[in-house]
Amino acid sequence: MADSKELEVPSESDIAGLDRLFTNTEYSQYTVQVGAFSVDVLYSNAACTDHDLTGQIPWPGATILSHFIISEQGQALLKGKSVMELGSGVGICGLLASQLCQDVVLTDHNELVVDLLNQNVQLNPPSEESAHTKTLATVCYEWGAPWPHSHQQLKPEEGFDVILGSDIIYSCSTVPLIMKSVSSLLKKSGAFVLAYISRWKVVDDALKSELDSYKERGWRVESLDVHSLICEAKVPPHGFLYLVRPPD
Ligand SMILES: C[S@@+](CC[C@H](N)C(=O)[O-])C[C@H]1O[C@@H](n2cnc3c(N)ncnc32)[C@H](O)[C@@H]1O
Repeated sequence: MADSKELEVPSESDIAGLDRLFTNTEYSQYTVQVGAFSVDVLYSNAACTDHDLTGQIPWPGATILSHFIISEQGQALLKGKSVMELGSGVGICGLLASQLCQDVVLTDHNELVVDLLNQNVQLNPPSEESAHTKTLATVCYEWGAPWPHSHQQLKPEEGFDVILGSDIIYSCSTVPLIMKSVSSLLKKSGAFVLAYISRWKVVDDALKSELDSYKERGWRVESLDVHSLICEAKVPPHGFLYLVRPPD
């Protein structure tokens, strides 16, 4: 009779690299052209949504926000300013902004995505023409959390002049967290520029009700015309662009 043996299951920490078993960090390099501007970025050919790795690919909101950034209004808003991007993912919008701003901080809560952001920052060193860029940094930052102590030096004392967000709103529960970050990290005279893709009515309603509650407290919310920024063929369906400003 064969000996019986208990099945020994190795613990997760015994299996080297298990955390990477279900993730794919093989990226391809692309040059993304937006009008006269371009950024070189690595990204994945397919996003794995299981591990919240949505940030490994560019999303349609980035098309809207990047065209706003290079528009006359966007350039006027960003020139020489301190900018922070929430949920940067691949980082296309923040990297484009870095060609116009003084200081740019790209953030994401996923460490694998922050690794990708760091690689993309390396691919886009400040050029001679964008000599006004002083800082181009990445920070691991979770929506709704206080700004990390370890990176206090990257946050201007009065807050960032501009906060950017593209395709970061796709679940109801994160809407108040994102607005909490915005209200605590944005300068009083600053602006939050949000590119939003409407996918589910329940999320539309959550965003509307959150923005309405901020409006009641004196915040100003302006919806910009997406079609005036991008040629018709490139406008993502159901795309919106909001400019959200604290009370005067
Ligand atoms: C759909 S992707 C959009 C990425 C990029 N902004 C774009 O438009 O291509 C959402 C991004 O938000 C990040 N994210 C999701 N939940 C987050 C949270 N609670 N705190 C910080 N970042 C978060 C994800 O890691 C991902 O990079």
